[in-house]
Parts: sequence; structure tokens; C-alpha cells
Amino acid sequence: MTQPQRPQLVTTRAALKETLQSLSPRSTVGLVMTMGALHAGHLSLVETAREKADYIVVSIFVNPTQFAPGEDFDAYPRQLERDLELLAEVGADLVFAPTPAEIYPHPARVTLDPGPTAKVLEGATRPSHFGGVLQIVHKVINLVHPKVAVFGQKDAQQLALIRQMVEDLDMPVEIVAAPIVREADGLAMSSRNAYLSEAERKLALCLSAALQAGAQAAEAGEGAGAILKAAETVIFEASAAVDSPATLKLDYIALVDGVTFQPVTQGPAVLAIAAKVGNTRLIDNYLVEVK
Ligand code: PAF
Repeated sequence: MTQPQRPQLVTTRAALKETLQSLSPRSTVGLVMTMGALHAGHLSLVETAREKADYIVVSIFVNPTQFAPGEDFDAYPRQLERDLELLAEVGADLVFAPTPAEIYPHPARVTLDPGPTAKVLEGATRPSHFGGVLQIVHKVINLVHPKVAVFGQKDAQQLALIRQMVEDLDMPVEIVAAPIVREADGLAMSSRNAYLSEAERKLALCLSAALQAGAQAAEAGEGAGAILKAAETVIFEASAAVDSPATLKLDYIALVDGVTFQPVTQGPAVLAIAAKVGNTRLIDNYLVEVK
């Protein structure tokens, strides 16, 4: 059996530009931005991009500006060789994997203020995070000039902020959302799952279990209070489990509007959760309808 062809790898802006300029003017470019340590969730983003464009660029860059001091920038898994093999299987064409110095040749003088949506939930715990995310997304979109860029629903607040940036700054790119990919037992796929011990991995399952309980309450026609209570009950019972060496500290469970991330009591909503399992911060969400 022949091996699938690996994507071309470029690490500089100049090589990226040269490769993109060599494409036929009729090519449509799709972009998937990642920080590497790829899993099936990332590969599904590439598959979605392939339905929308005929030449797929994947960026792999652990972006320092979206990590605060003391967060896991240094520890973040880096495995470029394996990532290239995985990307060959889903037909990515080009990988852009620059160094931090290539992307940030000098400290930025101009930065983006992500606005009010970045101040709540993830932004309340990680105040500088979304400014860094929008900075890198804006830069890479400007370097690649894609027709479409695909982002995962798993980072729902990030997705909403990217959409707001594209709209507010008139960026000529279509943002496409791809659904969360889960392990067979429900855990949302994340590069950070690699940090979890066996006991933590078991405890981490209660994030998706809590969301599922909340979603079931929504399906049953319960109101916002009951939906949140159903989800919280699962978390509190799990974190009280005395026989586990792992610890879970809930950051938030919230029922919010998918654009503003402000609380909602009716209509389509994001049921979002964040918790620290051991030292690993995990997030997850379900889309629900509050009747
Ligand atoms: O979602 C991520 O992995 C990152 O925030 C992104 C969009 C690649 C920017 O660094």
C-alpha cells in the first residue's frame, strides 16, 4: 500500500508566500490553525476545510502571546513529525510551522482589543488570552489569505471572538465552525488531555457528563436554572468523590448566548464548562435550546 503524501512544510513567511504564489489563481485556499499535538478533532477541521476549498494550509504554532506567565506554554506538547504524518492522512497540502521569532520579529506595537465578549468566562480567568489569540489569528489569516478558515466549536468563545474580529475589521474570509469531536466515552478531544493521569482522565469525564445532564434537562423543557442545576449536581458529586486521588476544581458552568457570551434564559444557548482537573484546565460545551 502506498503511503499518503505528506504535506509540504514551510517555516518562513517568505517560503509560505512563494508557495502560495505558485498556486493556480483558480485555487481556493482553506486554512486550519492549530498549535500542533494534533488529534482527531483537528483532523476533522481539515476534512471540513477540504469540503470548502481545494488547497488546505494548516498552521502549527504554539503562540506565546496567548499564554500568561505560569501557564503551560513551555510544557505544551510539540510533535511536528507525528503531526505531519497525521495530516498526510487527511490530505492537507501545506503546513506552516514558523518559530516565534519568525512570527514576532519584534515585540508588537499594535495589538487588538478583543472587547467585551473576551471579559467573561475564559477571559475572566485568562485576561490576556483572547488578545493573543486574535493577534495570531489576524496575522496568519493575513499571511495565508484563505477563502475559508475552519475553527472548532470546542473553543466556543474563541470562535465567537474570531467571528466578531472578522466582521468588525472587514476581513475577507469566511469563518466556518466544525463540531466537537469526542472520545468514545464522551470526553472532548483536546491536546491537553495528554497531561491527564489515569485517575484524572476518569474524573475529567464528569465535564461532558455534566453537560449531558444539562442538555437532557433542556431537552425535557426545563428552564435555565434547572439546566444549570442538573449540570452542577454532576460536577459536585464527582468532585466530592473521596476515593479518587485526582482533584477537580470547577471554574464555571454557564448558559450563555453564543455571540455575546452573556447569560441567557431562553432560545439557543451554549452550555459551557471549565474546570481544573489536577493541574490541567479543561473546557467543553454543548449547544442547547432553552424552551
Ligand atoms: O485553538 C487553538 O488551538 C489556538 O487558540 C489557535 C486558534 C490555533 C491560535 O493560536
